Amino acid sequence: MSKICVIGTGYVGLVTGVCFADLGNEVHCLDINEKRITELNNGIMPIYEPGLEEIVERNVNAKRIFFTTDYEAALSQAEFAFIAVGTPSGVDGEADLQYVREAAEKIAEVVDHSIIIVNKSTVPVGTGDWAADIIRKKRGNDELEFSVVSNPEFLREGSAINDFMQPDRVVLGSFDHSAAEKVAKLYHSLRAPILITDLRTAEMIKYASNAFLATKISFINEIANICDELGADVREVADGMGLDKRIGRSFLDAGLGWGGSCFPKDVKALAHMAVLHNSQPQLLQAVMDINRNQRRRIVYKLRNVLDGSFSEKKIGVLGLSFKPNTDDMREAPATEIIYLLLNENAAVQAYDPQAMENAAAELPEITLCKDPYDTAKGVDALILATEWNEFKQLDFNRIFKLMRTPILVDGRNQWDSTRLREIGFTYIGIGQGNHNGNGGQS
Ligand SMILES: NC(=O)c1ccc[n+]([C@@H]2O[C@H](COP(=O)([O-])OP(=O)(O)OC[C@H]3O[C@@H](n4cnc5c(N)ncnc54)[C@H](O)[C@@H]3O)[C@@H](O)[C@H]2O)c1
Repeated sequence: MSKICVIGTGYVGLVTGVCFADLGNEVHCLDINEKRITELNNGIMPIYEPGLEEIVERNVNAKRIFFTTDYEAALSQAEFAFIAVGTPSGVDGEADLQYVREAAEKIAEVVDHSIIIVNKSTVPVGTGDWAADIIRKKRGNDELEFSVVSNPEFLREGSAINDFMQPDRVVLGSFDHSAAEKVAKLYHSLRAPILITDLRTAEMIKYASNAFLATKISFINEIANICDELGADVREVADGMGLDKRIGRSFLDAGLGWGGSCFPKDVKALAHMAVLHNSQPQLLQAVMDINRNQRRRIVYKLRNVLDGSFSEKKIGVLGLSFKPNTDDMREAPATEIIYLLLNENAAVQAYDPQAMENAAAELPEITLCKDPYDTAKGVDALILATEWNEFKQLDFNRIFKLMRTPILVDGRNQWDSTRLREIGFTYIGIGQGNHNGNGGQS
């Protein structure tokens, strides 16, 4: 059993904290957001993540996890301090490190015993050294015995607990090999491959991994757009490519592009790092451009079907979170598409199974509906923006009767176009070109 403090109780920090507690450690989760900590102490989850509430409750009852805003109390006996605070995009696309800096300064201020600082936040290469310098400077002559280990996080929102408990790999980077070995012990019971590198390499592995996944998605979206014009079907193209073990099928689903709290800011930050160090990130730039255009392209396709204008049109949107099984709307494709529609004077109504609270705060201009059928009522087109399971098997005969004009935009290629066309819908998919070069519409 180890004593662990986790700084930041967002998607990464809370999941990390509770999973380490579940593995038998004593974990003190700390956040500067008092509301969040009060809620957690009252059994209310600040985020939606499948299975989270149960695992938190189990570990609270077992007195293995504690929530506090008090740095001193949280760190007083900690052998490990995990940093899991946000690193949002700054004005030029760089990672904003203010929260990491604050966490490092607080550690320097309150810790008076030897400690291993483990960084889980996604940070630019070199941040581990920078954080160590901050701590040394802050302590001055009163030296603190500490090591810094980079432990990038690869969990996916929506399956975060499972991803933590069954990771493909654990990456640990440090100039202090024995500190990295001690962190490795925390993960041993997961029986995952553990890769120990130097600090900067571990930090780069995280950026390179996210940039590669974003590239795969932008690649298949570019292929989808070509398929639309040439009358090929990108879904089968992806299957055919994916059977090649060198390529793999995952992250080859054409759609509305990538979003979320990680890919957009991480690709931007990596490109920014490259430019700062005299490299030309041409591929990363193209990956971002394709992604931006993917949202515009669907709006363009729909505008064409609606005779060139959204004015006086009402559009329904199904799904607002950036992907299914999360309430996270950060950089969600749906949000961007909704703003494009609003800018062209469309009225928008929408529904999401989990993101309605966030949507009410972030999209005050739209009408929020109570379910998919309510969203279809009176609209000129219905867009599937996020592929939640509950949108996969809808009663389309009912939806047909509810809509003002029966146009479906399947932004995630989830629906059966043949059946929908039989019912009488105009169906717009992504890269499903139907051999007459009409861009996947009929
Ligand atoms: N969300 C993901 O799926 C994911 C996956 C892998 C890596 N990451 C990375 O992990 C980091 C955290 O991401 P997240 O999505 O969990 O962020 P988040 O915004 O959900 O949570 C961050 C939390 O840190 C708290 N915080 C900020 N400053 C603090 C401070 N000085 N002391 C204590 N708490 C503080 C905030 O109040 C917030 O609760 C980011 O760098 C992100 O890129 C995220």
